[in-house]
Amino acid sequence: MKEARISIDRDYTVAETDPRIYGSFIEHLGRAVYGGIYQPGSPLSDERGFRRDVLELIREARVPLVRYPGGNFVSGYHWEDGVGPKEKRPSRLEPAWSVIESNQFGLNEFMEWCRAAGTEPMMAVNLGTRGVEDAKNIIEYCNIEKGSYYSDLRRAHGVKAPHNIRLWCLGNEMDGPWQMGHKTADEYGRTAEEAGRIMRMVDPDIELVACGSSSLAMPTFGSWEETVLEHCYDQVDYLSLHTYYGNPEDNTPDFLASSLAMDDFIRSVVSICDCVKAKKRSKKQINLSFDEWNVWYHSNEEDKKLERWIQAPHQLEDIYNHEDALLVGSMLITLLRHADRVKIACLAQLVNVIAPIMTSDTGAWRQTIFYPYMHASVYGRGTVLNTVVKSPSYESVYGDAPYLDAVAVADGERETLTIFAVNKDMAEELSVTCDLRQYAGYEILEHLELTHTDRKAVNTQAAPDAVKPSANSRSRIDAGRLTAVLSAGSWNVIRLGRVKTAGK
Ligand code: AHR
Repeated sequence: MKEARISIDRDYTVAETDPRIYGSFIEHLGRAVYGGIYQPGSPLSDERGFRRDVLELIREARVPLVRYPGGNFVSGYHWEDGVGPKEKRPSRLEPAWSVIESNQFGLNEFMEWCRAAGTEPMMAVNLGTRGVEDAKNIIEYCNIEKGSYYSDLRRAHGVKAPHNIRLWCLGNEMDGPWQMGHKTADEYGRTAEEAGRIMRMVDPDIELVACGSSSLAMPTFGSWEETVLEHCYDQVDYLSLHTYYGNPEDNTPDFLASSLAMDDFIRSVVSICDCVKAKKRSKKQINLSFDEWNVWYHSNEEDKKLERWIQAPHQLEDIYNHEDALLVGSMLITLLRHADRVKIACLAQLVNVIAPIMTSDTGAWRQTIFYPYMHASVYGRGTVLNTVVKSPSYESVYGDAPYLDAVAVADGERETLTIFAVNKDMAEELSVTCDLRQYAGYEILEHLELTHTDRKAVNTQAAPDAVKPSANSRSRIDAGRLTAVLSAGSWNVIRLGRVKTAGK
């Protein structure tokens, strides 16, 4: 059996986790909204049309933040089409995804849905086909109490109290030639600066995210970030990153090593932010919003065959397998390891569209990737410890890839310590040790693992539990040393804590 070691020190911390790193994303795309979170008339929905079974799974994953309404969709969106009496809302051609948008679900429904889901909104404005004027109007509609055209319009739409939306994206993937209203870095940087400035004039208490690159592979990567920040550094709080990985060549070792590329992406963007900071002699630090990340490739071929200009088709419906869940686990570990700079992250997306949750007209179920996402969101809040991993490794397209990915999160108040770990070796178990003498009195509360003999195993409505977590009973603490045996190809959550005895 291969052997690896994790070293931690309770004083050697990275940062407190910002819960918003466990955010997700709902775009008007495919069946994310219609037939996903919203299905009026369904016996599975409440009186507002919100799917109750979906809300339950979202609460189970404790999703703290949901980005909305896009994505590519937002760059051609008129939010006014989706507010007010439903019978008066227009159906529009939606060029980003070649569909018809009925506008039966819009901003006010989303905000009500957020309350039902126990989550916070991250709202994007259209800086593609629209711009500064629209950014001013939407924030007035959302955040001003009354006495002006747009705030009174909201009240006329039956929403008396302002939504008070705190977090705003200044457009989406504006570096991408596919984006409606795509811009050069100079054009976007100026627009973001002006839109941000006027939005803050309306509501100074908001936080703003500027668009970074759509992926590390963009030809403009690096210069885009630098130029954009040179324009809008003083106006924005975060710079965005997006990335998706796939395994179309069926090379699992390389696929699982993709988290190294994500790590490289984060390090590079941090360096660029700090370079602009130094050039500007600024005291302010720009943090990162990794507001789209996931595995995405299974549905690519199917999507090419789709009919155009229909409503809510089955688009981007990736069916995730076991190895996808392992990479999602490694990506979560990567985000946690950068908790000092990554303050927001959104698993893209949440329901039906490249999503951890799938629905049909008769039910909702958890895809394989639901589990690492839910585990990290539920157990990964607290202080991230600098987790040093000594592991055997293999050659990958991204260089030397350790078989073991791991990170530890401590919760001082609750006296718990959680180790998230992925064994990327699909053939062999991995023995992992960790010196826990600083955590005297801590015991193993639970070791959960997600493993399967078939790396291509999936969950379906007919077999929703084909891939699901189970207990691993092979972990021990002996004289302050943890020894865990990680199954071949597994995602692991090792939960340690001080066991309270009766009367204490
Ligand atoms: O999440 C799917 C799409 O991926 C989003 O609309 C876009 O921003 C990205 O390219």
